[in-house]
Amino acid sequence: MKRVLHIKSSINGNQSYSSRLGCGLVHRLRDLYTDMYVVTKDLSEEDFPHLGGDTFAAFFVPKEELSPEQEILLMASDKAIKEVMEADILIIDAPMYNFGIPSQLKAWLDHISRAGITFEYGKDGPKGLIKNTKAYISMASGGIYSKGLAKQMDFVSPYLKTIFGFLGITDIEIVRAEGTAMVETKEASIEMALGQLQLMD
Ligand SMILES: Cc1cc2nc3c(=O)[nH]c(=O)nc-3n(C[C@H](O)[C@H](O)[C@H](O)COP(=O)(O)O)c2cc1C
Repeated sequence: MKRVLHIKSSINGNQSYSSRLGCGLVHRLRDLYTDMYVVTKDLSEEDFPHLGGDTFAAFFVPKEELSPEQEILLMASDKAIKEVMEADILIIDAPMYNFGIPSQLKAWLDHISRAGITFEYGKDGPKGLIKNTKAYISMASGGIYSKGLAKQMDFVSPYLKTIFGFLGITDIEIVRAEGTAMVETKEASIEMALGQLQLMD
């Protein structure tokens, strides 16, 4: 059985292009894997917390020494990491907001990046500890960033490749619904993105 974790991060609810692209990906994956279990997490809807100082400090407290308050502070991080570790495939919906990712998605990444759990430093430098996981990044942007001069302004795909690579996830495919703010491209953007996808086991 393939376990899929679908992370939504748009503030646009049902109107979201990245969410519709992510759902389209789930749909396509069902053709590939008949036995598939999908967990969906909508970071905007559940108001996923930003990382605060007390929570970050609790990351470094040994489990048996955690206070009840610290255990509560760690709940969002522990749950998010468990969900990631259990997944074979991640689908990360990533709208471009102000040239970067939504703060909701950054908050989630801050909670899953934990020394000793999802990465560690050894004598050869940093090592990601999330193994055997494939990630699809379902991007959506008002403009077009896959080609031309605007390419250098896309801080979404290089950032996500870097952070997931750091955590051990290097099998990453970027799928883009582009030009969602442009009359001539917005209607076809999701179908075009899915059309370019070559799904392989
Ligand atoms: C707060 C905000 C900031 C945005 N910033 C950019 C941007 O920097 N570049 C861009 O091309 N589009 C930008 N857009 C447009 C979105 O990328 C576009 O609407 C995209 O479809 C959003 O994905 P979503 O529909 O999944 O939320 C922005 C939209 C919002 C709401």
